[in-house]
Amino acid sequence: MPYAHITGWGMSVPETVLTNDDLAKIIDTNDEWIRGHTGIRERRIASENQFPSTLAVDASIKALQVANLKPTDIDLIICATSSPEYIFPATACLIQDELGATKAGAFDLLAACTGFIYATNMAAQSIRSGSIRNALVIGAETLSRFVDWKDRNTCILFGDGAGAFVLQASDQPGGVLSAVMHSDGSGGDALSLPGGGSHIPATEASIHEGKHYIHMDGKKVFRFATRVMGQAAKEVLELAGLTTNDVQWIIPHQANFRIIETAAKYLKMPLDKFIINVDRYGNTSTASIPIATVEAVEKGLLKNGDKIVLVGFGAGLTWGALAAEWTGPIPAEHKVHPESYRTWARTRSFMRRIVRFIEGLIWGRDS
Ligand SMILES: CC(C)(COP(=O)(O)OP(=O)(O)OC[C@H]1O[C@@H](n2cnc3c(N)ncnc32)[C@H](O)[C@@H]1OP(=O)(O)O)[C@@H](O)C(=O)NCCC(=O)NCCS
Repeated sequence: MPYAHITGWGMSVPETVLTNDDLAKIIDTNDEWIRGHTGIRERRIASENQFPSTLAVDASIKALQVANLKPTDIDLIICATSSPEYIFPATACLIQDELGATKAGAFDLLAACTGFIYATNMAAQSIRSGSIRNALVIGAETLSRFVDWKDRNTCILFGDGAGAFVLQASDQPGGVLSAVMHSDGSGGDALSLPGGGSHIPATEASIHEGKHYIHMDGKKVFRFATRVMGQAAKEVLELAGLTTNDVQWIIPHQANFRIIETAAKYLKMPLDKFIINVDRYGNTSTASIPIATVEAVEKGLLKNGDKIVLVGFGAGLTWGALAAEWTGPIPAEHKVHPESYRTWARTRSFMRRIVRFIEGLIWGRDS
């Protein structure tokens, strides 16, 4: 059975920074309260022409560059997102088209902020089963579009960004070691985006009532998160036959510094074993774990051979964890340039649209 290694990683965040002081100009809040209650100082906000797929493609190309893979080498793209561009088509398909990943199956995975852990596990299991060799796993968000900027409960928390991993099959031991995925739908009302789906379709009334915004009972989510984070990390370590002493880094979902602190206490681990960047990006949902991972690698903190635990929680309610041995890219003889496929991918996409248009003319639009 092949092992599933994490061989590529990349991230992309919008340039626009929204600080706590900026927020204090539009709602009744202040930097001291936000930092004290969440640890967040600032977050990134997508510009009008940036979407989850825009950020995801940027992050994915960087991940492919690290893994030294062409877009055409990818067998599967999973995009975990809480802010998909459409209900359908899947954001993963938009990414597939933009990258020119012509051989890849592509789908979105909705497990809210736990999505990246679920998606990485799904990709790893597909590799372990032998059905695919190369997967691209993405967490991508522009949650700022679903935030009610008049609701100080939620608008201080969320930010935009994307992160991506490449997973590859290898005969060498290492890579994803174990994973746990949990859910409890009885808590679905604690954190939801109720409007725009088939239960509450978008209408004038639903918009008037603000159903298209994120709704959250912060205290309920806080209690749930502090209970499950440490537990899930412990569970995944036991499954991998490891203890906290074997682990170099815990990479938690970046929702709130106080939640991470509680998990560290539960695990009896020092906070300096946790990768934390919630202060600079806020909660980027599915993107928070890959962004934190990429920063840890780029700072030289995360090294080959390190044992890591990714752990997260989110709406659903969902929570989960994944243990991995960090092994880096698979050595290759030739350097490939995934970025050079962009122009070809755009041309290919354009040509396919033309072919469909011509087919429509020949066969008639109703056939
Ligand atoms: C949202 C959260 C930061 C609120 O912190 P809290 O300590 O629970 O704060 P409360 O809601 O009890 O509010 C305490 C007081 O601060 C006020 N307050 C709330 N938001 C505020 C803000 N942004 N600025 C200033 N004051 C604020 C409240 O009105 C309340 O005032 P009152 O006591 O006069 O009524 C916290 O509950 C949390 O982080 N929950 C988890 C959310 C999360 O992680 N969601 C994503 C999951 S993936």
